[in-house]
Amino acid sequence: MKKIHSLAKKCLEKVSPYKPGKPVEELAREMGIDFEIIKMASNENVLGPSKRALKILRKKLKDINFYPDDNCFYLRKKLAEIHGVSMDEIFIGNGSVEIIYLLGFAFVSEKDSVAYCIGSFPMYKIITDIMGAESVAPPLKKENKAVDPVALFNSIKKNTKIVYMSNPNNPTGTHFTHEEAKYLVENAPSDVLLVFDEAYNDFVDAEDFPDTFSFYKKYPNVCILRTFSKVFGLAGLRIGYLIAREDVVATLHRVRYPFNVNSLAQYAAFYALEDREFIEKTVKLINKEKKFLYRELKKIGLFFLPSQTNFIYVEFPEESKLIYDKLLRKGIITRPLGNLFPNALRITVGNRKQNKYLIQCLREVLKM
Ligand SMILES: Cc1ncc(COP(=O)(O)O)c(C=O)c1O
Repeated sequence: MKKIHSLAKKCLEKVSPYKPGKPVEELAREMGIDFEIIKMASNENVLGPSKRALKILRKKLKDINFYPDDNCFYLRKKLAEIHGVSMDEIFIGNGSVEIIYLLGFAFVSEKDSVAYCIGSFPMYKIITDIMGAESVAPPLKKENKAVDPVALFNSIKKNTKIVYMSNPNNPTGTHFTHEEAKYLVENAPSDVLLVFDEAYNDFVDAEDFPDTFSFYKKYPNVCILRTFSKVFGLAGLRIGYLIAREDVVATLHRVRYPFNVNSLAQYAAFYALEDREFIEKTVKLINKEKKFLYRELKKIGLFFLPSQTNFIYVEFPEESKLIYDKLLRKGIITRPLGNLFPNALRITVGNRKQNKYLIQCLREVLKM
């Protein structure tokens, strides 16, 4: 008898599932750690969730016997007001990752290609492999390891359906500029979706960062992807959104499942958007702590990339997996970056106590 898995689509053999950061409970269980574990692996908000979001969640918990609003009406209305677009230009997903998937399901088939930079967010490759499509993946820019929109423009072929751009880039934290993006949006064929994945936009302070809304207004193939997982502190609820033309949004509705966004996530996101104080507090803390970490990493003599996000890409003189393992034993979870960046870790910026402990542990591990 044929093995059951051989019934699956052939192209799935190529798919390597996403490797998330190690959860705190898993490390405690595996290593029997009974002291505080610090997770610096998944770029979550170190301050926790927005207090306004928490307040509404407590109130709405009693209603979870009801299905959520399948339309996400109030959240779409709020986002439409904030971004100056119509409600029909907003698609809400179960995390922005779901939207990356749905874009693949809706727009990409086996004969198509998708462009993204190698060394960027892994989900672009995963969904392309799931659809059995071809990846055209040029490298990141040499000088700063940011996504390279010009190289992506050169990667567009007749059968290209989507260009994905993480800006700032996960896992390097660096960005491409408005001018670079402009070249791509002005010259790319109008039937290629240009997806600007701006998961970390609230942390950006670079003045030359692309104003993607100005592109969006002019070019119907431009889409902007955002998440509530980072600055809003709602990663566990899974919610993100896409801003795109009505026909793109309508197409995504055809492939999503009903009630894809749970009710608590909808309420929490709505109130988190109003919590400007929390957003500002988070950004201020991250900026201050990034400066602290830059100073300390410099003292240790480690190479890092100045970041436009809430994480830092740090390089080590030896294979980073070894450093990662040693840090785990001290109760710190970071993110090794695999074969592409064998000497680097991606480290989420913590609070001062956590960052001081990280630096102390790095010194111990590196024997400095
Ligand atoms: C560039 C980028 N896009 C999308 C996501 C996914 O976010 P979400 O939690 O909304 O699925 C992440 C998460 O780390 C990310 O770094």
